[in-house]
Amino acid sequence: MTDKTKWVVKDPKRKKVFLPSPAMKKRAYFSSTSLYTTAAKNPKKFWGDMAKEAIDWKQKWNKVYEEKPPYFKWFLGGKLNVSYNCLDRHLEKRGNKVAMIWEAEPLGERERKYTYRGLYREVCKFSNVLRKLGVRKGDRVGIYLPMIPETMIVMLACARIGAIHSVVFSAFSGVNFKKRVDDCEAKVLITCDGYWRRNKAINLKSQADIAAKAKSVKKVVVVKRFEGKSPVKVVMKKGRDLWYHELMENASEDSKPVPVESNTPLFLLYTSGTTGKPKGVIHDTGGYLTQAYLTTKLDFDLHDDDVFWCTADVGWITGHTYACYGPLSLGATMVIYEGSPDMPDWGRLWAIADKFDVSVFYTAPTAIRMFKKMGKKWPKRYDLSTLRILGTVGEPIDKETWDWYFDYIGHKRCPVIDTWWQTETGGTLVNALPGIGPFIPTVAGRPFPGTRAAILDDKGQPVKKGETGYLVFKSPFPPGLLRGVWKNPKKYKDTYWGEYGNRTYFTADGAKWYDKHNIRITGRVDDVMKVAGHRLSSAEVEDAITSHPLVIESAVVPKPDEIRGQVPIAFVVLRPGIKESEALGIELVKLVRKVIGPTAKPHKVYFVEGLPKTRSGKIMRRFLRSMLVNEKLGDKTTLQNPQIVDYLKKVVGYKKK
Ligand code: WTA
Repeated sequence: MTDKTKWVVKDPKRKKVFLPSPAMKKRAYFSSTSLYTTAAKNPKKFWGDMAKEAIDWKQKWNKVYEEKPPYFKWFLGGKLNVSYNCLDRHLEKRGNKVAMIWEAEPLGERERKYTYRGLYREVCKFSNVLRKLGVRKGDRVGIYLPMIPETMIVMLACARIGAIHSVVFSAFSGVNFKKRVDDCEAKVLITCDGYWRRNKAINLKSQADIAAKAKSVKKVVVVKRFEGKSPVKVVMKKGRDLWYHELMENASEDSKPVPVESNTPLFLLYTSGTTGKPKGVIHDTGGYLTQAYLTTKLDFDLHDDDVFWCTADVGWITGHTYACYGPLSLGATMVIYEGSPDMPDWGRLWAIADKFDVSVFYTAPTAIRMFKKMGKKWPKRYDLSTLRILGTVGEPIDKETWDWYFDYIGHKRCPVIDTWWQTETGGTLVNALPGIGPFIPTVAGRPFPGTRAAILDDKGQPVKKGETGYLVFKSPFPPGLLRGVWKNPKKYKDTYWGEYGNRTYFTADGAKWYDKHNIRITGRVDDVMKVAGHRLSSAEVEDAITSHPLVIESAVVPKPDEIRGQVPIAFVVLRPGIKESEALGIELVKLVRKVIGPTAKPHKVYFVEGLPKTRSGKIMRRFLRSMLVNEKLGDKTTLQNPQIVDYLKKVVGYKKK
């Protein structure tokens, strides 16, 4: 192994604190903490300079930042087009460079590669298709597609004409898709016949049909994913449903990108909060793209010869920023994969990384925990020597998992970049940078340059080192931070600015200072769960369960799980006279699958006589949560029905007194 591939060195003075090697420092864009200090002196100037570098502006902004709490704007008056920045501007230098490599799940199917020029052509054509279908600037387009190249093509095509896309995770049910389509009143939906998942052909079109019933929907475009004879039955509704390939046949490649003002919405992404109804998080154009570009570049030290693979599905924010906009705005080569990591065996991801010489690999702790369980024999079969940098996202990573990732995937050469962020932040916000470090297991790292994080106690005072508090961000707010909640300004204000006033962004995550600069994240402090890295709210699952006619009420809480991080557990109260049964439990699990999707299904259903409640009738999920992990239960006196606690303890087999 040459020195060039040795990217991390161990700090001899401190245990398990890794630092970048001289080779890594030399290659990195930034190798000194002066980056942070300079940015902190004048964050607005820092972001202004970065936005100049990141983006080809059609028109320069006239004001870099403005705040009308709790609203704020970046790059006011600046005009740009995201698809121009992801495609057109690369054509001259990188026209023949591979932009995207797609790997299908079935081994027999060949990968597809798109050069920047190739991708540009497809995007231009589809943007003209959208125009023909009557989609205009500001219109919403619902996208319900798996990890196939057309997904990125249609997203970029929306951006090209200034339409706002709303991508919905393809493993979510059609019912769940419809909720989002109804909320954002999408005119056009884009879906496909189906896709392969664990060797099973999934019929996506039949699910999309449920959402297509929404009042606002005029047309449904259907990508033909399956080649030849389709393994699923697709019914096309005349006058409404159109095949993508037929529309593309005659579409012109000539498409002018529509410049939009920087603070115009680029996309909506629905995410789970503390209520049953998902929120349409609004991301803007210039601020979002600046943060997507810069974090991709700096977090992963991405250079022109890198091959970047973010395994996240595009239905989540990680897929938006790091499997589409970030890498493409940089002109990088990225890999996307359709299927499951265990197809045909647990070596598949390593086989793909080996085949395409992946140099930067970004995934979720839940996946690594699974790989760890399956054993090191799988990665050992493949040549992973091209890997330089590893990343994780979505949930706290425990030390054993970090170590395994570092040892068996990175072969002790690659730093593990643990990135903390949220759907709302658009891009990463707390992590180490490869040329600067330090890389410490279970410590996410330092707030991104030009951002101002704080950890506060209940009273709004900064916590002392070692104490847990709430992670917040102060003004100027990160350029990628959400600009609102679709059609719900109250929700925006209450959720993010309600805790410490409208000049402090509340993350709903617990955190503590590991040292002066580095932050350890302790997890959500609200009723949001992270199940296999997927964000889910208690109330969402409860709503699905209580929609059953025999159920009066329910409470859903997370329970720690060795592989999935957390799993939902349901407590269900049935109507008087209704007998509990295993069959009814199964029926409820099925109902959750149907209403939300398989990720949300409860791992256990407890039928109970009642739930712990406050005097005002609010369900105290915290008691149930603690009971499941045999934790101290805390003060019962605030409950209207304290006697229920002893009963519930018996039901779950609580051990502590
Ligand atoms: C959690 C995913 C610990 C956190 C990008 C956050 C993390 C929520 C980390 C957002 C991390 C994300 N360490 N916790 N590195 N990254 N989280 O919206 O609780 O799906 O609030 O965005 O994931 O989840 P979301």
